[in-house]
Amino acid sequence: MNLFDNHNRPINYLRLAVTDRCNLRCFYCMPEEGIHYLPKKELLTFEEIYRLVSMLATMGISKVRLTGGEPFVRTDLMKLIRSIVEIPGIKDLHLTTNGVLTSTFIPELKKIGIASVNLSLDTVDKQRFKAITRRDEFEPVMKTLNLLLENEIPVKINAVVMDGKNIDDIIPLIELTRNNKVDVRFIEEMPFNGEGNHYTSLTWTYKKIISYIQEHYPALHKIPDPDYSTSYNYSIPGYQGSIGVIAAFSRTFCGTCNRIRVTAQGVLKTCLYDDGVLDIKTLLRSSLEDEAIKEKLLHAFRHRVKDGFEAEKKRSDHLPVHESMSTIGG
Ligand code: GTP
Ligand code: 5AD
Ligand code: SF4
Repeated sequence: MNLFDNHNRPINYLRLAVTDRCNLRCFYCMPEEGIHYLPKKELLTFEEIYRLVSMLATMGISKVRLTGGEPFVRTDLMKLIRSIVEIPGIKDLHLTTNGVLTSTFIPELKKIGIASVNLSLDTVDKQRFKAITRRDEFEPVMKTLNLLLENEIPVKINAVVMDGKNIDDIIPLIELTRNNKVDVRFIEEMPFNGEGNHYTSLTWTYKKIISYIQEHYPALHKIPDPDYSTSYNYSIPGYQGSIGVIAAFSRTFCGTCNRIRVTAQGVLKTCLYDDGVLDIKTLLRSSLEDEAIKEKLLHAFRHRVKDGFEAEKKRSDHLPVHESMSTIGG
């Protein structure tokens, strides 16, 4: 079944934040003291998530990405994962994780056929890792990366490019693609750090990132971007992996946006920049039957903003963004 919004864009990708909690404190995402975490009862239960994903699967969602916060800080996450892969219509399940707790679960992730894992890793240097994430967890994350590669689980590394923080990591991160089938993606920093800080100019734009890489690797060449890809993709002749650049801040994805988000507190966002358009948790906890809830979901999908990015650009001149990426789920 196909699902289209009011601007004729297909909707087939659900990004679901299973928790807003995280065991790291990446400064571009959260303040040092963390954010004001939601009480447990405010999170969707596994049963509620299963019911929601089952409904969405009958409506046209076929790809699910579990995000956070850090998904693995949620107790028994594998139980949820096992249940979601069994839902008819869900063709592939993906995870975005920081890798701190992930390694133990890799054999089982492989067994259940996880489609891919996106690993947040901004540096290959232990000390810089500590400075960026404010935690000393470099080794477990590298262990996760190595096990993912050994188990041949498709893996993308997400590295947020930060002026003065990890520019020296761009080349070493690219070098990981020399002998490994890994996709390293460099991401423009977005103003979602939970502190209300924002900026209207960005030093390391995707253009600057690409020319920096080109200077070091003149043979860098463009490869086709998969449909709905967030990244512009490249490779270096002779290298096994590939390189991506995500213009998360300076480019609009709106024209081809195929994704919806459910935040940690069970709120539907049909655009990264909206404030939440439907309180799904309340609906799931009411006496409404599935069909009635699906009608409300469909109504939200048929009233989707066309260009949230442009609206945000205008708004951000006035209002700082207070949300943390860990609540939105990226
Ligand atoms: P794939 O399914 O592998 O393409 O993953 P993805 O890029 O959709 O997801 P991931 O969780 O790895 O996110 C990578 C980066 O892209 C993060 O910084 C996200 O915040 C950003 N991102 C994802 N979707 C959007 C979007 O709709 N708009 C913008 N501006 N950024 C996005
Ligand atoms: N800007 C850009 N990317 C971010 N991420 C988290 N916070 C930000 C931000 N402020 C990325 C992380 C993670 C992905 C889901 O979002 O690298 O891999
Ligand atoms: Fe945690 Fe990811 Fe935010 Fe870092 S970016 S604090 S790993 S949720």
